[in-house]
Amino acid sequence: MDHPLTRRNWLRTGALLTAGLTIDRSTFGSGFLNPAAAHALHEQALVNEFARLGEPMPQIKARIAFNENPHGLSPKAKDAILKAVESGNRYAMFEGQELKKLIADKEGVKPENIMLSAGSSELLTAMAVYFTGSAAKGGGGTVLTSQFTYDDLLGCAKKFGAKIDAVPLTKEYRFDLAAMKGKVGPDTKLVYICNPNNPTGTIVPAAELVAFCKEVSAKVPVFIDEAYIDFLEPKDRPALPKLVAEGYNLFLTRTFSKIHGFAGLRLGYAIGPEKFLESLQDYSRGEWNPSVTTLKAGIASYQDEEWQNFCRTENTKASNLLYKGLKDKGYDYVPSYANFVLFPIRMKTKQFEKEMFSNGILTSTREYNNQPFCRVSIGTVDEMGLFMDVFKKIV
Ligand SMILES: Cc1ncc(COP(=O)(O)O)c(C=O)c1O
Repeated sequence: MDHPLTRRNWLRTGALLTAGLTIDRSTFGSGFLNPAAAHALHEQALVNEFARLGEPMPQIKARIAFNENPHGLSPKAKDAILKAVESGNRYAMFEGQELKKLIADKEGVKPENIMLSAGSSELLTAMAVYFTGSAAKGGGGTVLTSQFTYDDLLGCAKKFGAKIDAVPLTKEYRFDLAAMKGKVGPDTKLVYICNPNNPTGTIVPAAELVAFCKEVSAKVPVFIDEAYIDFLEPKDRPALPKLVAEGYNLFLTRTFSKIHGFAGLRLGYAIGPEKFLESLQDYSRGEWNPSVTTLKAGIASYQDEEWQNFCRTENTKASNLLYKGLKDKGYDYVPSYANFVLFPIRMKTKQFEKEMFSNGILTSTREYNNQPFCRVSIGTVDEMGLFMDVFKKIV
């Protein structure tokens, strides 16, 4: 697979190489680096490199590399956090139940179909261990997916000896569901689809995805990573929770890290068959993992639709500004349904990242089919303006 994308890989192959550092997997013990540590290490590596070169460390004007929410938390979530200060000495007891009920009611499933987590990353790895790890039926096997997608689950499955069968994207940079259907075989342990996909920002049409899930989940478990689903208008989201309620062998994960701005607070959830979620508890602590503070903030944020609408609208505004800037410079881009945009660049990836960074812009790059790309996260309108100013200067 060409340059599979995670913050972890980006850190390892991108920033650290840029910074001339030799940090390998063993540096991180098990090889699973938690995202917050990745951010800190990444920034530290760049600081070290600038110190080594005797260059003044640039002031970061826009951190638009990790698909975070630049607008921060909902005011209601902030308020809930302040109030939660009083309960930090106690284990969470009822907060998880309350949040699960809210999600279940909205999605038309039972609370037993929801499993909470401290961010969705732990669910991705738990799923990989469950389906391909030694404790799962037989272990190993194949995970069927696409090239140029998010590789947290895939990287973990590989560690447990699974093969990854990654079909090429369509020419529109979408998951090729027709090609994937033809690849399901006796060895397939799991199908992994990321929708909207990271790093392309593309989606598969909702009706096509629903039909695929119905048909393929009759043969093998299907897992859809919906980390960016909140950036679609509610009416445009595929009705996959309904399929879970109807008993299909289907699993979804969602995260509060994006539209809710909880990347540092850590909260996510899975929607799936009740029996399966019970088994998954053996591989993840579920609702006992997020802190009471995070859960209380999550309950407030989940109900604050006004804030979610605001963030979605601002994301569209800032994306349109970026599209216009790129078009004016004669650059193509992949129209995005998420809070980041992928576009081909005419410079080596590392050089691009470094030049951007020297000018105070922290962004990220990838390669696919030997073509270098920038994947820029959508910041505020002002941050996208800064990005374009520097972009015009360096290309
Ligand atoms: C596609 C996708 N899935 C899952 C995650 C994990 O996010 P978190 O662990 O913050 O919920 C990310 C993070 O960027 C992502 O891009």
